Amino acid sequence: MKRKKITVVGAGNVGATTAFMAAQKELGDIVLIDIVKGLAEGKALDMSQASGLCGYDCKVTGTTNWTITGGSDVVIITSGLARKPGMSRDDLLAKNTEIVKSVTEQVVKFSPESFIVVVCNPLDAMVNAAAMVSGFEKNKIMGMAGALDTARFAFFISEKLSVSVKDIRCVLMGGHGDDMVPLPRFTTVSGIPLPELLDEKTVEEIVQRTRMGGIEIVNLMGTSAYYAPAAGAVKMAEAILLDKKTVLPCCAYCNKEYGVGGCFVGVPVIIGAEGVEKVIELDLDEREKKELAASVGHVKELINTLKKFI
Ligand code: 2OP
Repeated sequence: MKRKKITVVGAGNVGATTAFMAAQKELGDIVLIDIVKGLAEGKALDMSQASGLCGYDCKVTGTTNWTITGGSDVVIITSGLARKPGMSRDDLLAKNTEIVKSVTEQVVKFSPESFIVVVCNPLDAMVNAAAMVSGFEKNKIMGMAGALDTARFAFFISEKLSVSVKDIRCVLMGGHGDDMVPLPRFTTVSGIPLPELLDEKTVEEIVQRTRMGGIEIVNLMGTSAYYAPAAGAVKMAEAILLDKKTVLPCCAYCNKEYGVGGCFVGVPVIIGAEGVEKVIELDLDEREKKELAASVGHVKELINTLKKFI
């Protein structure tokens, strides 16, 4: 069987960690590309030298040359500026739209059959930008945020309850911003609804910490998180490449779904060999609907602003 090919765009913290995790899972041969000469080449060589110790056979290539990425099955876009303390994800809009635009043009040229997983911020806006520029079918474009935000939500719950994080299943919707909508009502610990195990106040504290999960890390180390974001991106690539039919929230195209009206935003989906195979529609209560509408409204404002950079 021919190995799959994954391109990771951007050899910074998120990109390099994504490439390394994908290699460890032997998802396919990996091309790490960056505009900074030597950066992707050096990190890829380092990962290749680790292969014997880690036990993977896939090839990891670093390059500045888009030709090498040709024919990729999945392209993960991590390139772009990361937040510094005091910055919101939205502050990155203008610069990262330019970057996503030029990267997406190369993806269309060299890997026209690929699936695109966007990781850079402001996430939902960047997914919409990649969709506009590529013109790819909507199921082939998605953004990694829900995997990360639910992972944070799950970790905080597991810590609070002293239970295995693997037993926790979370649902979360909306944009990847402070107004994201974690859904405790749909969150379970081995099938037990969360509200059965934690009181309302504690749940609300965990919800707030989840919303601020990214900035908590930026404030600690001066730059954005990368282990959990990379793990989220790899989970999505794995779902596509191995046709896992994985259920998780991701930034996906919604038209009628949730009354979104034609843009990409965080919703629970099934991911498999066809990319986003289905958006799962939940019966939200009034408060959840209101929170989701506010978050979608925010994403739409960013989309309107980014149009001038495309
Ligand atoms: C985060 O939430 C990088 O936006 C990403 O950490």
